[in-house]
Amino acid sequence: DTKEIEEKRRLYEINRQAGRYFHELLLKNNTSLDYLKRRGMELSEIKRFGIGFAPDEWGNLYKFLKSKGYVSGEIEKIGLINKKKGNNGYYDRFRNRIMFPIIDRNNQIIGFGGRVIDETMPKYLNSKESLIFNKGNNLYGLNLVKKYSNKKNILLVEGYMDVIALFAKGINYAVASLGTALSPNQAKLLKRYGEEIYIAYDSDLAGTKATLRAIDIMSIEGVKPKIVQLPKGMDPDDYIQNKGKIRFERLLKEALSPIDYKIILNKEKFNINNFEEKILFTKEISKVIKDLKSPIEEDVYIEKISQETGITKEAIEKEVRGNYYNNF
Ligand code: UTP
Ligand code: MN
Ligand code: MN
Ligand code: MN
Ligand code: MN
Repeated sequence: DTKEIEEKRRLYEINRQAGRYFHELLLKNNTSLDYLKRRGMELSEIKRFGIGFAPDEWGNLYKFLKSKGYVSGEIEKIGLINKKKGNNGYYDRFRNRIMFPIIDRNNQIIGFGGRVIDETMPKYLNSKESLIFNKGNNLYGLNLVKKYSNKKNILLVEGYMDVIALFAKGINYAVASLGTALSPNQAKLLKRYGEEIYIAYDSDLAGTKATLRAIDIMSIEGVKPKIVQLPKGMDPDDYIQNKGKIRFERLLKEALSPIDYKIILNKEKFNINNFEEKILFTKEISKVIKDLKSPIEEDVYIEKISQETGITKEAIEKEVRGNYYNNF
């Protein structure tokens, strides 16, 4: 209804004002500019992504926004200020952080992510969910992908810095799910904005788990992604800064199908020269093969696993079919 539309319009406006405020402060703050420069970020990215800085102060943003005519209730609603204990007054929620505006497909700032420039926790503080910010319905960077990319490939990464570093090096089709597990709506967005979907989450335990979950969510949406494998411990930002665009694009070319990715993970987990572990490995892979929708694909992988383990194709086939019936 029109009242809600008007309320949303004001909330977007507050974020836009705050974004501009943070951005101007960043351009005057040498400590944060140095920090970003050390991390390989140029002024062109700072401007293109509207990056800002929230100083180590408790009430200046609140004062600024009130001077623009906004009221505490609405500023609090989008998580830029918090109520003080005892209910007397408000304080700025983002302090001493690099600010990443989160911009939706209509180029509205729906929220912010704020990164510390030291070791304080949490590393990133994000805007609260609100009338205008729903994490699971958005992908960071999608506004730019919509604007610049040719829509053939879309690359899913974890974080703000990944999207920005990739963009700076000429990869203009990356979006971030922002740390959380990929949501069904985010999977739908990926499907809408790319023909081929690549996942390049961080190469660590959390990233691996998130990749497996993302594969499942995408599969429900009828999408079969390709999985990019980065060297252990690296994320796309680390990789492209160290190795460059050509090497990164080579990794995209070598990206794995979900089943090949799962086989590799299980090979890392089990030592198939040990009988017991070989059995566990083959049982795990049989479960994965069962999920394949095509008998031809099943046959190819049963053959491959049979060759690798020395277990007969017949035995693996029975195991796969057994798993199949167990699921009813
Ligand atoms: P990472 O810890 O991988 O951070 O979290 P990063 O993106 O590589 O950032 P840098 O390189 O350390 O600066 C991935 C994403 O998860 C979300 C953020 O969106 C982050 O970009 N996250 C992470 C949070 O929301 N809060 C946190 O405390 C940590
Ligand atoms: Mn990580
Ligand atoms: Mn990371
Ligand atoms: Mn990183
Ligand atoms: Mn099957």
